[in-house]
Amino acid sequence: MIAADLGERELVDVLKGNESWDQSAQTVIVAEGLVMYLSPKAVKDLFCQCALIAGIGSRIAFTYIPTGPDGRPDAGRRTGLMLWLQKVIGEPWTWSIHPGELGLFLEESGWTNTPTLAGTNRKHGVEFFAVAGK
Ligand SMILES: C[S@@+](CC[C@H](N)C(=O)[O-])C[C@H]1O[C@@H](n2cnc3c(N)ncnc32)[C@H](O)[C@@H]1O
Repeated sequence: MIAADLGERELVDVLKGNESWDQSAQTVIVAEGLVMYLSPKAVKDLFCQCALIAGIGSRIAFTYIPTGPDGRPDAGRRTGLMLWLQKVIGEPWTWSIHPGELGLFLEESGWTNTPTLAGTNRKHGVEFFAVAGK
């Protein structure tokens, strides 16, 4: 296990010194409950770097908070309270995306959205689950 603050260090940099990591291997990457805590730049970098450190046929499974009509992360009718609580506990939500914009975001990051996979792009609680392939 390698602990790293992905808001501070790039994944490519974290794995560079680890000789057990094979960048050409078919890999499953899971980012559950992570990307909403990173800056927009860090999220884009993370997806781009995951594409660089994983082989053809890899998949990345992740959850995300959808952007609401007012441009804020959407947690339903308790959005205001939820955003305030996240901030107060020191884990503010700093990234969300419109589900309709996810495909383009992934394409630009080296991945292809796979909404046909069972269970992807479905909402569970306040989060969407998604899977993309390389
Ligand atoms: C809601 S929890 C999800 C936990 C995870 N899915 C699990 O089952 O263990 C949020 C996770 O995001 C991680 N996290 C938040 N900001 C991070 C950052 N900048 N870099 C790396 N991890 C971060 C936290 O350490 C925490 O483990």
